[in-house]
Amino acid sequence: GDAHAEANQQLYNHFTNLVSSLPSSNGLGLGQVFLHSQGWHAYQGPMVGAMVADACFASRPTDIIVATLPKSGTTWIKALLYATVHRAKHPPDAADHPFHTLGPHECIPFLELQVYNYKTGRVPDLEKLPDPRLFATHVPFVALPRSVVASPGPGCKVVYVCRDPKDTFVSLWHFINKVRAKKGKEPLSVEFAAEQFCAGVTPLGPYWEHVLGYWRAHLARPEQVLFFRYEEMQRDPAAHVRRLAEFVGLPFGAGEDSAADAIVRLCAFERMNELRATKDGKTELAVIGAVDNSIFFRRGVAGDWMNHLSPETAQRIDAITRSKFHGSGLTSV
Ligand code: A3P
Repeated sequence: GDAHAEANQQLYNHFTNLVSSLPSSNGLGLGQVFLHSQGWHAYQGPMVGAMVADACFASRPTDIIVATLPKSGTTWIKALLYATVHRAKHPPDAADHPFHTLGPHECIPFLELQVYNYKTGRVPDLEKLPDPRLFATHVPFVALPRSVVASPGPGCKVVYVCRDPKDTFVSLWHFINKVRAKKGKEPLSVEFAAEQFCAGVTPLGPYWEHVLGYWRAHLARPEQVLFFRYEEMQRDPAAHVRRLAEFVGLPFGAGEDSAADAIVRLCAFERMNELRATKDGKTELAVIGAVDNSIFFRRGVAGDWMNHLSPETAQRIDAITRSKFHGSGLTSV
């Protein structure tokens, strides 16, 4: 009722005031980037959304949460997960597969952007959603809703994907400049953007702490946190789809010989890039409003950084990666 709606609005107001009081900087120039006391950066909306999610999200052991940094393969892993989980109801080759009308970001919404969207000031009722519920997040492991990381306890499943920091950065730089162009702002130079990236002042940055947080969680609880790399997915996507299916408790059965390959084909960059849902569809993101689904598709390859970064910038990023990942067991790509 009304009292409930008012309490929800108060919760959003409370966290909005809290975030407004945090240190902030201009980051990549799409608005203030706030620094959370846990050491990560985000725009106001997603940070408020993450705090509301922490306070309100009641996870179930059957939930599956995709976790990524922006531009590290979120769209791809969302598509692969959705197609895998729903393959009985929606065979990947079906002419009426949901992907023909809905983009992956519409199929699996972000907790902090779309589910707990600060613009609505409304805590949605997620109880009636059928299992398994699929959600996504960009927040670091330390900032996941407390019910997700419930310990001891089953918590729920988390699927993390990371990508070479140089490619993640180049993809982010292109994305930011596309959004800036839409707002009539001049493009950012790659040098300036790289400074910000190395300083960690990018959405959900620093990059390195984000990856390390999920890597350590994966080492500690491999049955709860799956850890994939974009480049390895590119090398053998079908093997990754099979691991994903096993991880979420839906392994491919005897009669499903070609199912993993069919899912890989359905979710391939070239295929998804041609779908009407990509060409004509839009996704509502809290920070930048409605974006064309095509903004999530650019080249979809590993190593494109070579075409955009000077050797100095590439070496600078590699040096940070080596020093931050040293001793963690994580190797550079
Ligand atoms: P590039 O900009 O390097 O091309 P995110 O989905 O996390 O926003 O990341 C976007 C990046 O993933 C973009 O990288 C995009 O082209 C790539 N991408 C999107 N869909 C993909 C798919 N189905 N397969 C492989 N890469 C994909």
